[in-house]
Amino acid sequence: MSAAIRIEGVTKRFGGVQALAGIDLDIAEGEFFGLLGPNGAGKTTLISALAGLVRPDAGRLMVMGHDVVSDYRAARRRLGVVPQELVFDPFFTVRETLQIQSGYFGIRDNTAWIDEILHNLDLTEKADTNMRQLSGGMKRRVLAAQALVHRPAVIVLDEPTAGVDVELRQGLWSFVRRLNRDGHTIVLTTHYLEEAESLCGRIAMLKQGRIVALDTTANLLRRVSGHVLRLRLAAGMALPAALRSRMSEEAGGEYVLPLECCEDIEPVLGSLREAGCRLDGIEIVKPDLEEVFVRVMND
Ligand SMILES: Nc1ncnc2c1ncn2[C@@H]1O[C@H](COP(=O)(O)OP(=O)(O)O)[C@@H](O)[C@H]1O
Ligand SMILES: [Mg+2]
Repeated sequence: MSAAIRIEGVTKRFGGVQALAGIDLDIAEGEFFGLLGPNGAGKTTLISALAGLVRPDAGRLMVMGHDVVSDYRAARRRLGVVPQELVFDPFFTVRETLQIQSGYFGIRDNTAWIDEILHNLDLTEKADTNMRQLSGGMKRRVLAAQALVHRPAVIVLDEPTAGVDVELRQGLWSFVRRLNRDGHTIVLTTHYLEEAESLCGRIAMLKQGRIVALDTTANLLRRVSGHVLRLRLAAGMALPAALRSRMSEEAGGEYVLPLECCEDIEPVLGSLREAGCRLDGIEIVKPDLEEVFVRVMND
């Protein structure tokens, strides 16, 4: 498959801050891709460079094969960005805002598609409301709608659900999932890791302007080895000698053992049985993306 987004050797410095320190990244057509990283990692700078709003110091970026600098209009036409900041013109209604945005892209009669977007983002009732009268969550919906008016092949969402209600998050995700099924490439930055875990097929983790992890979500989850076994001993019981070196004790008297695979639990149970050690509780926990994230960021 060809690349929806191609980023080659991109660097960007703001004064003393190296916001992007050499990014190489290909995102294939049809991917649902996650861009994760702590505040200040460079996510928004990278997205702004893709949208042609920030000029990189070195390297180049392409959207659907179009260079975002030398072929700006074609690249911009294929990209829809839902920005992190709430920027809007307070003098227009929701529908007018979307019509004006369509005009920027030279689309004349866009009513049917605008109606469909409004419907999917639950904005139909607000179509004739002035932007300044909308709540923060509603404004964010309009920003999402604005990014979609020209039916871009690639849709980039920069922390679109930061501080918005659960209802909007779910509505937005089901719409974005549908767009992805219809063939649109989606790039999402979020700090809700469970969101990335459930939506993204592949993830890049960014730290100080560098990609520090890039893999499928499934492989990243596998990195934090298998599962974790947690035991609570019954009162008066001591951990058998055979297990003492392998399990670590946590606050609250729980013992923890990382499992490479589920079969690893068998010898543990055997040792407990042999020693006649009774348990108060036993639990096998799956690691989540948050654990991967914390480990990668601490490395
Ligand atoms: N216009 C700018 N002027 C100066 N510094 C900036 C500007 N934009 C971003 N930065 C800096 O670049 C770094 C990366 O910022 P940003 O891309 O917004 O990170 P993220 O979106 O991952 O939180 C930060 O240190 C930020 O302060
Ligand atoms: Mg940002």
